Amino acid sequence: MNRNLALEFVRVTEAAALSAGRWIGRGEKNAADQAAVTAMRESFNSIDFDGLIVIGEGEMDEAPMLYIGEKVGQGKGTRIDIACDPLEGTSITAKGGPEAIACIAAAEAGGFLHAPDMYMNKIAVGPAARGAIDISKSVTWNLREIAKATHKSIEDLCVILLDRDRHKDIVKEVRDCGARIRLIGDGDVSAALATAMPESGVDVLLGSGGAPEGVIAAAALRCLGGDMQATLLFTSDAEWDRAKKMGIKSKDQVYGLTDLARGNVMFIATGVTGGSFLKGVRYTGGGAATHSIVMRSETGTIREIETMHAFDKKPRYGW
Ligand code: FBP
Repeated sequence: MNRNLALEFVRVTEAAALSAGRWIGRGEKNAADQAAVTAMRESFNSIDFDGLIVIGEGEMDEAPMLYIGEKVGQGKGTRIDIACDPLEGTSITAKGGPEAIACIAAAEAGGFLHAPDMYMNKIAVGPAARGAIDISKSVTWNLREIAKATHKSIEDLCVILLDRDRHKDIVKEVRDCGARIRLIGDGDVSAALATAMPESGVDVLLGSGGAPEGVIAAAALRCLGGDMQATLLFTSDAEWDRAKKMGIKSKDQVYGLTDLARGNVMFIATGVTGGSFLKGVRYTGGGAATHSIVMRSETGTIREIETMHAFDKKPRYGW
């Protein structure tokens, strides 16, 4: 995969973040999302590449833009599969909370699990605990193994998970083990990344969130040297029928990191609201500053990019 694309894609996540940034704290999550989607699509289509959305805003009949199967880019070169979340954290943005990002993962054709829009049970860890997790085993078993692998006591571990009623049994088991918990309102892509960033203080992501977000997080963890396992959580026959159409063979399959995102992958994100690893969009009077991260699995290079945008030259972001 052409490495220069990774830098081209920063413009795409920057455009989405700059557009969503105008909606921070305005209580309108759908407007924030729409702004990010429109900007991301326009920006993709200005790039000279042959892109196919495999994870996007939903299926064609429910999403007018960035739908699964939509072609993006100007159609040149080898085909690249795109998993995108123009605004990961729509409610966070509407409330002005932390950790909303605009993000893209890219892979060679066929590199991503075609995950339906449903829940996925996930466990994700950073490089120190790679190979130490097994989603088919209990929370207690996993915490013991992660503690051993990271040379920490269980009490030192910090588990991050979405603050949802459906997670109450996991929360109880983690607390019974003596480990600590960080409950978050939204944004389990950022949470998965946090497990691979030592300064975050987070060791493991547990619980269920969106399956599309799971695939995007897996691409990031491939670049960061972390690990992840997942299973799809079917709640209705309709979900199972949809999943079968998307190529899912078994309800019980455990997806390892490379089942979710294989081959050479890239992950690119720009902060919308500020968080633990990315600053949010900051308005500077006549312009705005963005902070992005660009990673490639092939080389393991991780770049941070701070960009100044001038509204007199790019009026659309000045509004
Ligand atoms: P949106 O940006 O689409 O609002 O998703 C936020 C999010 O928290 C994801 O990070 C997570 O995977 C999913 O929603 C969890 O879904 P739910 O809110 O239904 O528990």
